[in-house]
Amino acid sequence: MPVVEGEEPKKSKRSVRERADAIKPFVCKNLIAVIEDPADLKNIGTVIRNVNALGAEKVYIVDPRKGLPDDWQDMREKPSLSKTSVSAVKWSFVKRFDSTDDCFDHLEKNNFRSMVTSPHVKGQVNIILHEGDYTEYAKLAVWFGNEKRGISDRAVERSDACVSIPMFGMIESLNLGTSSGIVLYEVCKQRREYQSKYRKRDKRGKRTMPLPTVMGREEGET
Ligand SMILES: C[S@@+](CC[C@H](N)C(=O)[O-])C[C@H]1O[C@@H](n2cnc3c(N)ncnc32)[C@H](O)[C@@H]1O
Repeated sequence: MPVVEGEEPKKSKRSVRERADAIKPFVCKNLIAVIEDPADLKNIGTVIRNVNALGAEKVYIVDPRKGLPDDWQDMREKPSLSKTSVSAVKWSFVKRFDSTDDCFDHLEKNNFRSMVTSPHVKGQVNIILHEGDYTEYAKLAVWFGNEKRGISDRAVERSDACVSIPMFGMIESLNLGTSSGIVLYEVCKQRREYQSKYRKRDKRGKRTMPLPTVMGREEGET
């Protein structure tokens, strides 16, 4: 069957279940991507797709315009979101918040620390993506800002650090979807390597045999 760009090839129920079981050990526990006030549904879909594909755990969306349904079940059934995320919204949990403070309150209540991302120097601690250690906090939320305005001052204020992808061109920033892919790749890679070696935080519970950090490719996959 031909595969159309943007559409996932149809899989049988059994192979879907097998895949869902196989990916479980690779998912980065307690890693949430937060999108703050995104304006474009396509970007929301791309971030959800990146979260799912790279193995972060959840997506939180600060949605002050109230453009999204409150309930994940309703989001999963929203055709535009399902289409732009190529169905990743069905597999990755998404939760919406009315405001930046509501989202921080919820994260902090659950012992999550936050890092924001920006092409600019923001706040007290600034980190170049590949120089950062993203395994230090047991529970980590990584924030991405609005397409035009970037991350808010309030989010910077309530975060521990600001992470930048180094850029070498004439333009000011990368787009939201692209930057979420690059940042989450590095963060997930580090946290998956950690999980493969240790069962607990602070390098406790060392495994005698590290778990694999790369999934075997299915036969016949190109
Ligand atoms: C299109 S950018 C926003 C540009 C905006 N004018 C600004 O001042 O940030 C949308 C989001 O992508 C992320 N982003 C873009 N370029 C980045 C970079 N070089 N490093 C880290 N994050 C970046 C940030 O989360 C940013 O808020």
